[in-house]
Amino acid sequence: MNKLTLMKMHRLRDFLKDDVRRRTDFTQTDQTLGVDMPPVQAAATEGHRVLPLPKWQGEVHPQGSFDQLVDGRKSVRKYLDEPLTASELSYLLYMTQGVRREAPGRVLRTVPSAGNRHSTETYLALTVDVPDRDGNTLFEHGLWHYLPLDHALEWVGHAEDLEGRIAAAALDQAFVGKAPAVFFWAVAPYRTEWRYAEASHKVIAIDLGHVCQNLYLAAQSIGCGTCAVAAYDQQKADALFSLDGADMFVAYLAPVGKIR
Ligand SMILES: Cc1cc2nc3c(=O)[nH]c(=O)nc-3n(C[C@H](O)[C@H](O)[C@H](O)COP(=O)(O)O)c2cc1C
Repeated sequence: MNKLTLMKMHRLRDFLKDDVRRRTDFTQTDQTLGVDMPPVQAAATEGHRVLPLPKWQGEVHPQGSFDQLVDGRKSVRKYLDEPLTASELSYLLYMTQGVRREAPGRVLRTVPSAGNRHSTETYLALTVDVPDRDGNTLFEHGLWHYLPLDHALEWVGHAEDLEGRIAAAALDQAFVGKAPAVFFWAVAPYRTEWRYAEASHKVIAIDLGHVCQNLYLAAQSIGCGTCAVAAYDQQKADALFSLDGADMFVAYLAPVGKIR
């Protein structure tokens, strides 16, 4: 590495350190100044259809002991030509972002988050219809948004050539568009900045890692596979869900499909 590149790398490495905490004036955060806490989930847009997800208990039977799941975890880039069922989708959403407990002023989820701030927001691209237990379509193919507090999906809209648009959003990684479901994790940084100001961004990224790891293990436990994807086209991924790219933008994605 030449000297200039090395200097640049050293500056970028600072993102991984926690010196920013010492430089942050916590007496001036919005939380300390008494600004209202931001909402814990992005509200459904008025007029959009919201459909509750079915309970997954009793319909989805996770298989394998914990050590078998961890030992067998791997990235999967080939999926069967089969849709996920609504219960399977419900299970995967609950395991990655579900609300496990609500207490006054606190919403606790199935994943940890620095300061319980949960800047993560889950959007879904379904390339095929998702059937209920009787085989009738419950969630049609298209774009959806997960509402953890309601354990429901909000309809976002149709997209022409969805498979092609997903692949393009994933920097032409074609396997991503071939999955029946693709999780797009967006971030709403202000939820964390409200408390931690400049010291927010590394922990927002760490939070996403926990979400994706839960998806790997939960998917595997029900005969599905996934692959973390961090190489994507920012503008195309945001445009797919009409995210503004400033207060809400895609930061990570993962296709999911059946493998056996
Ligand atoms: C943060 C992160 C980003 C990744 N991005 C991609 C990606 O864009 N495309 C891809 O095919 N795999 C991606 N992967 C998957 C890795 O290539 C994979 O985890 C690695 O090769 C090890 O294989 P394993 O997961 O099967 O153990 C990513 C994994 C992580 C954790």
